[in-house]
Amino acid sequence: TTEPEIRKGLAGVYADYTAVSKVNAETNSLLYRGYPVQELAANCSFEQVAYLLWHGELPTATQLEELQHVERSFRSLDPEIKQVIDILPTSAHPMDVLRTAVSAIGALDPHADDSSVESNLAKSVQLLAQIPAVVAYDQRRRHGLDIIEPNDELSYAENFLYVTFGEVPDKVVVDAFNVSLILYAEHSFNASTFTARVITSTLSDLYSAVVGGIGALKGPLHGGANEAVMHIFDEIGTADKAADWLAGALAEKRKIMGFGHRVYKNGDSRVPTMKASLDTLVEYYQRPDLAELYDNLEEAMTGGKNIKPNLDYPSGPAYHLMGFDTPTFTPLFVAARITGWTAHIMEQLAANSLIRPLSAYNGVDERHLER
Ligand code: CMC
Repeated sequence: TTEPEIRKGLAGVYADYTAVSKVNAETNSLLYRGYPVQELAANCSFEQVAYLLWHGELPTATQLEELQHVERSFRSLDPEIKQVIDILPTSAHPMDVLRTAVSAIGALDPHADDSSVESNLAKSVQLLAQIPAVVAYDQRRRHGLDIIEPNDELSYAENFLYVTFGEVPDKVVVDAFNVSLILYAEHSFNASTFTARVITSTLSDLYSAVVGGIGALKGPLHGGANEAVMHIFDEIGTADKAADWLAGALAEKRKIMGFGHRVYKNGDSRVPTMKASLDTLVEYYQRPDLAELYDNLEEAMTGGKNIKPNLDYPSGPAYHLMGFDTPTFTPLFVAARITGWTAHIMEQLAANSLIRPLSAYNGVDERHLER
C-alpha cells in the first residue's frame, strides 16, 4: 500500500468552494462577495457589510433600514441570559462567558432546530444584535458598574460603545471601531469558520456551530492573538526595550503574537487599513509612546525573521485605546465574525456534504487479548 499524503494542519488543502470571500495571498487582497475589504471599510457601515455577507449584495436603502430595524429590536438581553451570565464568576474569561451565553440563547430559542434560510437569517441578526449586549454586560459587571440599556437611535458601532462605556465616543473612535468590525467580519476557511462548517455539515443547528466557532477562535494562534498582543506590550513595557525583548523571546522559541499568517506570507491585506485607524486613535488619545512600541517591535520582527504583522497586531492596541478590557478583545472579534460564520453556515447547508476526512493510522500493530 502507498503512504497516504498527509498535509499537517490541512495547509494548502482546498476543502470546498465558497462565494463569501476570496483571499489571494499572491496579490495580497481580500474580497467580500467581490468587493475589496479596504473599499468596504472606507465607505460602509458594519451593518451594510453584514447584509452583503449574508445576501451577496449590498443593501438598498430600504433593505438597510429593515435590517437596522430588526437588529435594533433585538438588542436587549432576555432576563434568563442575564441570569446565566450572573452565575458565572467575574473571573471567567469573557470568551467563556460569551460562549456560554450564546449556547443559552440557542437553548432558549424554540426554533433552534429550524434550519431554513429564513430562520437562520433571523437567528444571525439576533446574534449580531445580542453579542454586544453580552460583551458589555460582562465588562461592566466586572467593574461593578450598572448595566446600560441599548439605545435604538444609535448605529450598531455607536450602540456597542455606548452600552460598554455609558457614552458614545467621538466620531474618530466610532469610525475606527466600525473599520475593525468590517476587517474582522470574514476570512474564508479560517479555523473557526471551518469549525462552524464542520458542525453544520452534520446538520446540527446554527447555535451549535457558532458556539464551536467561538471555541476555535479563543485560541491564541487564531483570534486570541489580539488579546495576546496587548499582554506582550505590557510585558515589554517601553519602546526602547522592544528589540531586546524580542531577541529573548525568539531565543526561547516563543511565537510572537500578532505576527505571521498561514495564508499571507507577504503581509496581511487588512493590516494597512487597521494601522491607519490605529494612527488616528494614537493621535486622538495622545499616545505616541504606544505607537513607538508598536513600530519598534514590528521593525525588529520584520528586520530579523521577516515575519509580518497580521490584523491582530494593530487591532489589539486599537481596542486598548478605546477602553476595552484586554480579555474582551477576542469577544469583539466574535461580534464581527458572527457575520462571516453565519454566512458560511448558510452556504454549507445550501450544498451540504458531511465533512469527514480520513486519518492514517500510526499506532501499534494489530494485537489480541491474551486469554
Ligand atoms: N513568531 C515567531 N515565529 C513565527 C511566527 C511568530 N508569530 N509565525 C511564524 N513563525 C515562524 C515559525 O516558527 C516557522 O519558523 P521555522 O521555519 O524556523 O520553524 C516559520 O515562521 C513558519 O511558520 P509556521 O508555524 O509554519 O506557520 P503556520 O502557517 O503554521 O502558522 C500562525 C501561522 C498564525 C499559527 C503563526 O504565524 C503564529 O503562531 N502566529 C502567532 C499567532 C497569531 O498572531 N495568530 C493570528 C493569526 S491571523 C488573524 C487571526 O486569525 O486572528
